[in-house]
Amino acid sequence: MSELFDSYRSNYREVVQSSIDFSGLPHSFFMRAKADLLRELITRRLGPRKPSMLDIGCGVGSFHPFLKGMVDGLSGLDVSSASLAQARVDNCGVDYRAFDGRNFPFDDASFDLATAICVLHHVPPAEWVHFMNEMRRVVRRGGLVCVIEHNPLNPLTRLAVARCEFDRDAILLGAGKVQKLMAASGLHEIGARFFLLLPSEAKLVRRVEDALGNVPLGAQYAAFGTV
Ligand SMILES: C[S@@+](CC[C@H](N)C(=O)[O-])C[C@H]1O[C@@H](n2cnc3c(N)ncnc32)[C@H](O)[C@@H]1O
Repeated sequence: MSELFDSYRSNYREVVQSSIDFSGLPHSFFMRAKADLLRELITRRLGPRKPSMLDIGCGVGSFHPFLKGMVDGLSGLDVSSASLAQARVDNCGVDYRAFDGRNFPFDDASFDLATAICVLHHVPPAEWVHFMNEMRRVVRRGGLVCVIEHNPLNPLTRLAVARCEFDRDAILLGAGKVQKLMAASGLHEIGARFFLLLPSEAKLVRRVEDALGNVPLGAQYAAFGTV
């Protein structure tokens, strides 16, 4: 079956960039911010050892270069085989797998960490509970599940989503909803952190933003829980 994202195999980054051009910042800035947040979360929740990681809905793998040195083994999963073909060209050493969008093709407890970055808003709401149950299932006890999403409370996020042609089907969900899905799937020590409130590369601005991580206004949020 042809997937929406198959047609964005070669221009995914350009389409994202055109939806955020008004910020004056490159797509890579937003990717780096996510990687920084994930690094801090890994250290705090999983300790110094590099985790094995499954990135669900990884698309063309544009986040994966930012994970260099952070993980020990990386797998990427997506419903778009064309996106994964591009990801394989761009990133060697990553295990990319296509699937039907329902049951993750991995055994229970296969990973230390599972992420879904800007994916859930493309998954039909009726599938959210199953999707979260699958994220928890493939992570070992004591491991971490992390969902990064657009924050619907941020007006600039809404503008970027409205401008992004592949977000036509997007159903944004707030951090509270993701945390409830996590609780229902049996995760514990559930938390959330908001970021990209002040999109700027200036060091001082980054520090201010760190201090405002609990304020639910950042352009994106990470919701996380322990298995
Ligand atoms: C906006 S892209 C995000 C790609 C990548 N995570 C990133 O941040 O660059 C959303 C991705 O989710 C994938 N996707 C949509 N529904 C999915 C599902 N049920 N399971 C896994 N991936 C899905 C799409 O094919 C697409 O590659």
